[in-house]
Amino acid sequence: MERTMKVLVAYATRYGSTGEVAEKIGEVMRSKGAEVDVANIKDKPDPAGYDAAVVGGAVYIMMLSGKTKGFVAKHKKKLRDMPVAYFVLSGTMKDDTSENREKIGSKLNPLKKKAEPVDVGLFGGAFDPSKGPKMMADEPATDDRNWDAIAAWAEGVYEKFEGKK
Ligand SMILES: Cc1cc2nc3c(=O)[nH]c(=O)nc-3n(C[C@H](O)[C@H](O)[C@H](O)COP(=O)(O)O)c2cc1C
Repeated sequence: MERTMKVLVAYATRYGSTGEVAEKIGEVMRSKGAEVDVANIKDKPDPAGYDAAVVGGAVYIMMLSGKTKGFVAKHKKKLRDMPVAYFVLSGTMKDDTSENREKIGSKLNPLKKKAEPVDVGLFGGAFDPSKGPKMMADEPATDDRNWDAIAAWAEGVYEKFEGKK
């Protein structure tokens, strides 16, 4: 029998929405038979001992989360030796256009230089003014996360991971 694939889903979040997406990705991969740990980067997960990794973060003020970039920089040697996928949440991707894909996708360029991904997922984000920064307290609540698209992406990534095992 084949050994169970161990996958790390590491994410950074400020207001929670990226963590929920990471949990969903973990759930989908578990349903496919993987053993998955979903971990907040602030808890210092280590890719050592995993067969594959998914790393995610959100865009704030035009920049990809520094914690997400820092995680890939810190663990680049290990991540280069396993299949890896990246995902990003952003307000911009509520409109899934080629222009927005280009704009947000390019924020992954520094990560791609460190460890080339098998796939990238670009998703709309969510904003809850009760959790967000004070200066945005009057903004409306939004949730542009497309859970079907997220689940389909996670399934596809798992299949790519399996192909590379
Ligand atoms: C302070 C702040 C700044 C943001 N700046 C951008 C931005 O420049 N571009 C963008 O596309 N989305 C931006 N967003 C949207 C976030 O990427 C989106 O809300 C994401 O889901 C937040 O993830 P989190 O809940 O895990 O922290 C911003 C959100 C906040 C709260």
